[in-house]
Amino acid sequence: MKKLNIALIGFGTAGRGFYEAWQQLGTARFNIHGVAVKNGEKKRNGLHLEATTDVLSLINDPAVDVVVEATGNVKDAKIWYEATIKNRQLFVTANKQLVAQLSGFGNQNLLYEASCGGALPIVRLLETCFPHGVSSIRGVLNGSTNYILTRIFVDGFSFNDGLLIAKEAGFVEADERLDLDGGDPATKLRILCRHAFGIRLLADDVAVFPLLGFNDVDVKFIRRNKLAVRYIATAALDEGKIVARVAPELVAEEHPFAKVLNEENAVSIIDKGGESYFFKAKGAGKQPTGTALFNDLEAWSQGFRYKKRKLAKAKSSPEISEVIVRTAVDFRDQLTAETIESWIEGGFRFYRLRCYLHELAHIAVVKSGEACVFVVGKEVSRQRFKPESVLSIEY
Ligand code: HSE
Repeated sequence: MKKLNIALIGFGTAGRGFYEAWQQLGTARFNIHGVAVKNGEKKRNGLHLEATTDVLSLINDPAVDVVVEATGNVKDAKIWYEATIKNRQLFVTANKQLVAQLSGFGNQNLLYEASCGGALPIVRLLETCFPHGVSSIRGVLNGSTNYILTRIFVDGFSFNDGLLIAKEAGFVEADERLDLDGGDPATKLRILCRHAFGIRLLADDVAVFPLLGFNDVDVKFIRRNKLAVRYIATAALDEGKIVARVAPELVAEEHPFAKVLNEENAVSIIDKGGESYFFKAKGAGKQPTGTALFNDLEAWSQGFRYKKRKLAKAKSSPEISEVIVRTAVDFRDQLTAETIESWIEGGFRFYRLRCYLHELAHIAVVKSGEACVFVVGKEVSRQRFKPESVLSIEY
């Protein structure tokens, strides 16, 4: 049988990971025809051929059957993807932002398992294992932040030191805010919603709460109460609407999510029949991402394609029932029925208030699907408040 010819675009963490997976598992069936990179001058140890910087010429080489895109560059990747449609080539990508922007399904020559959950074959699972459909999906979908949380709560590191090591390990996005502010897991969640529910979520349909820092008081409180913080992406069907969010959540120490450590990712699914499932694997880094790219190639060779389906638009309803944050002041004494009433009259919904330390207090209110935290100062005035840290948000 003829070997499939691959054009590999990008030789960073994901590209090198793919290359090494191919060396280990795929040289008998696949040939790397060419590698394209941004900086042609850079020395790349272990690469057996000379890299080009002319990506389009490589893609348009008639010998190329498959383009493996591992750059994270959205604008250019769109152009490359379009070229592969014209050329009828398979396009395998780890580029979550590109995938989330595509308007729908239909291209049977597109696979993107590596865009969500690293080595976790979650897109393929959603495509094949739930014939009656899914009613909710919850996941730790960001390896970097889970790595940082593990360093803080298991090893006693500071947030910044945890971030530094995560960067060195190659888990963190070029723009680290995408990890820390939740954009990365939100994008992955939007991709998974296509496969779980056949629904297309836009960026604004997901309520995203950043993972802010934790101080010693937070860490002590969380440990003492046998809890763990996990940065969890959730999407659930609720009377035909999707409730989608990314938020830090407190989970009990024995909860399966609490046992998701380091750069691991995990997804828990409840199907339409009420059965629950839990999947876990390494979610970021060279080998998990490279393996996911390579596995797409294998799956496609064995006839696997994403189902053709028309995606419905989301009717989203981010309803929040509780937010736990740390604030610097205690305003509980000033919280009167009148105050709360005036907030409700002002169009705010009032949700459960929870305090976890005597000197700390918080209140969560929601208006137009947006969560805000308000602090009542000495004069019982209302002010929008950026919490020092969001410990947990529950819906
Ligand atoms: N920055 C991403 C993460 C890389 O930490 O999960 C893998 O998608």
